[in-house]
Amino acid sequence: MNTSTPSTPPGAAGPLIALEAMSKVFLTDEVETHALAGVAMAIHQGEYVSITGPSGCGKSTLLSILGMLDTPSEGSYHFGGVAVHAMKPAQRATIRNREIGFIFQAFNLIGDLSVAANVELPLIFRGDLKKAERAERVQQALEQVGMAHRAQHFPAQLSGGQQQRVAVARALAGRPAILLADEPTGNLDSRNSEAVMTLLSDLHSAGSTICMVTHDVRYADVAQRQIFMFDGKVVDAATSQRLRSEEAEQFELQLARSRRQVATAASQSAAAREPLRAAS
Ligand SMILES: Nc1ncnc2c1ncn2[C@@H]1O[C@H](COP(=O)(O)OP(=O)(O)O)[C@@H](O)[C@H]1O
Ligand SMILES: [Mg+2]
Repeated sequence: MNTSTPSTPPGAAGPLIALEAMSKVFLTDEVETHALAGVAMAIHQGEYVSITGPSGCGKSTLLSILGMLDTPSEGSYHFGGVAVHAMKPAQRATIRNREIGFIFQAFNLIGDLSVAANVELPLIFRGDLKKAERAERVQQALEQVGMAHRAQHFPAQLSGGQQQRVAVARALAGRPAILLADEPTGNLDSRNSEAVMTLLSDLHSAGSTICMVTHDVRYADVAQRQIFMFDGKVVDAATSQRLRSEEAEQFELQLARSRRQVATAASQSAAAREPLRAAS
């Protein structure tokens, strides 16, 4: 694949990502968790897609599979027309290192490496870029996110928003076919969140393909297209809204029930103290 311009995977005329009947089951202590149940979706080159859904609905699991960090239990995954589900782990790792840029909620920068060294690290792991080319890519990626002036700083010397910008630069430096972001604003205050969202929108305008997971509906609609998830499945917008308001109603009912229980327990213990007071 081309290393000097953003890479174009084979079969780029079709969708970049195509999932069919994808399921993921986790087995722990004899408990089966059906994290994904029959997911089908496609993402095309140049798209900015958000995946929204309540906590625990399978968003991170889906993103890990898209990013080739995990494998589906069933179903097919094609990346640029190539069958990822049939690949050996080493082959998957090579594609992952070259074609996928990850952005995580917790930034995941290495504390005792400088900003520049953090951005360079995945390029070293790839093993196909000379030192001068790596340096050029690091510089360019840091410029793209407005952090070139902090290249020699360490993560702890930066604000959360700046650290996330560096993490975005690290994802960009490999010139991946797609950026996968899992709750990229989850650890940020609203001002820094907005700055990171603006950065992602700018990158999309400049040609990046982005798939962002968020449970925050405020940020989901900055994307060009929204995918809604509920309970391991992709659902349409109306179904998502109905299920989420039903869930909120259930939560309110549960809260009211808990409050009543607390109030009853408090009045019972007050009543139990009454005879003691009368006797003393
Ligand atoms: N490694 C794992 N082992 C067992 N269960 C898991 C694992 N990862 C996720 N799960 C379960 O799968 C479901 C979906 O989790 P996740 O994809 O993290 O949801 P989300 O990102 O939408 O909050 C949850 O019930 C979670 O507990
Ligand atoms: Mg998650």
